[in-house]
Amino acid sequence: MHREIDLKNINLNLEPPEEETERQYYFIKKASGYVAELADRLGRRPTCCVTTFGCQMNARDSEKLAGILESVGYEITEDENADFVIYNTCTVRDNANQKVYGRLGVLNGYKKKNPEMKIALCGCMMQEKTVIEKIKTSYKFVDLVFGTHNIFKFAELLTAVYESEGMITDIWSDTDKIVEDLPVERKHSFKSGINIMFGCNNFCSYCIVPYVRGRERSREPKDIIMEVERLVADGVVEIMLLGQNVNSYGKNLENPITFAELLKEVEKIEGLERIRFMTSHPKDLSDELIEVIKNSKKICRHLHLPLQSGSTRILKAMNRCYTKEKYIELAEKIRREIPDMAITTDIIVGFPGETAEDVDETIDVIRRVRFDNAFTFIYSRRTGTPAAAMEGQVPEAEVKKGFDRVLRTVQEVAAGQISQYRGQSVEVLVEGINENDSSMVTGRLSNNILVHFKGSESLIGRLVRVRLDECRGFYYIGTVE
Ligand code: 5AD
Ligand code: SF4
Repeated sequence: MHREIDLKNINLNLEPPEEETERQYYFIKKASGYVAELADRLGRRPTCCVTTFGCQMNARDSEKLAGILESVGYEITEDENADFVIYNTCTVRDNANQKVYGRLGVLNGYKKKNPEMKIALCGCMMQEKTVIEKIKTSYKFVDLVFGTHNIFKFAELLTAVYESEGMITDIWSDTDKIVEDLPVERKHSFKSGINIMFGCNNFCSYCIVPYVRGRERSREPKDIIMEVERLVADGVVEIMLLGQNVNSYGKNLENPITFAELLKEVEKIEGLERIRFMTSHPKDLSDELIEVIKNSKKICRHLHLPLQSGSTRILKAMNRCYTKEKYIELAEKIRREIPDMAITTDIIVGFPGETAEDVDETIDVIRRVRFDNAFTFIYSRRTGTPAAAMEGQVPEAEVKKGFDRVLRTVQEVAAGQISQYRGQSVEVLVEGINENDSSMVTGRLSNNILVHFKGSESLIGRLVRVRLDECRGFYYIGTVE
């Protein structure tokens, strides 16, 4: 679903408008003409596929890409053997990049059989110069490449693809623009992500995000509220407010506002049942925010609070701006104030200079905080980041040993945390039919745990009460009450 666009009043004989939203509507109309011609040649509606790598921010961007593609006349499919395929890429770790190169080879095979096929690449990976050089020399069959800062121009770039031969590349190094009100094709009818800010100013020494996503920019609260209201009117009951570091939301606005204040405004929206947010940086998590969550009926009992390392020495080298003790203190405060809050985290193993003793410190924090879940990553050296140039890059075998130790601890601690809910009656938002058993549905607890129980399609998008009967590792089997 997206806003209806009145394309009838747009005159393509005039020059494209300057104002960005209107300008993109102009190009949506123009591209629609080319897609209609393509449909005539093919004798059917052309298909398109949007493939997402990476995080929630990228997933939201992909909904925007899909919104444009649908508006210009494509039919969305999950099959990459389509008439238009776009990869929305991630570059936070090198394995994400390698996956893209591998799959591009497969796309080339499809294109040889379908000469009308167009292939596009966008997202974080495209902000890296070396990647662009490689694509230009070794992947010449790609039709369109753009980055993270000009995604709002997709309709215009799509038009250019149909008007010219050869690869089009348009990469910006940064932007201060936030373009509102373009079409979005949501993946789920009942829940949605919403960008509240873009970019990141933290410069953690291992992380490429500040280089590929640019400086921090917050959206105006009124625009965010309006978007949530529209979504709720359209059937959404759960939203996730998205930003690289939501705790610093609003600081750079003309009329500054805190993230906690924004949450209070969002809470007031009638019909909205659940509020989530991602991601929090421990250094910016305020007492005000804890208080607002504590008093809220809608904010979910789940906080994703990346630790990265439990060693104060490594945290300093990572430029994380907190110590082991400060993190534990914060987690204890949250558990004390909001006892039913699940805390999950991200951990990196193998940062330059990390020793077995540093890994011990990380393991100590995992045990003391009792994380409800954790994503554990092997450190990936990202060109251009300060950590890539640091001495003491850890040999692979050492990293593997530390990684296995951390993973085992996480699994043990998380299993203990999750099992404590057995027998409870909880509110669940039903998200879909169970993938393995069509007589069952899958729902999510406020604390982000999944539960599977007998139910039908009619429950999707509804909040129901479920008894948690049986804990199976990371999820539950339950019964509707
Ligand atoms: N290597 C490994 N993991 C990384 N992350 C970010 N950069 C790197 C890197 N260079 C992880 C962090 C972050 C998550 C999104 O990805 O843990 O929180
Ligand atoms: Fe998301 Fe970062 Fe990956 Fe970009 S590089 S998709 S912002 S995790």
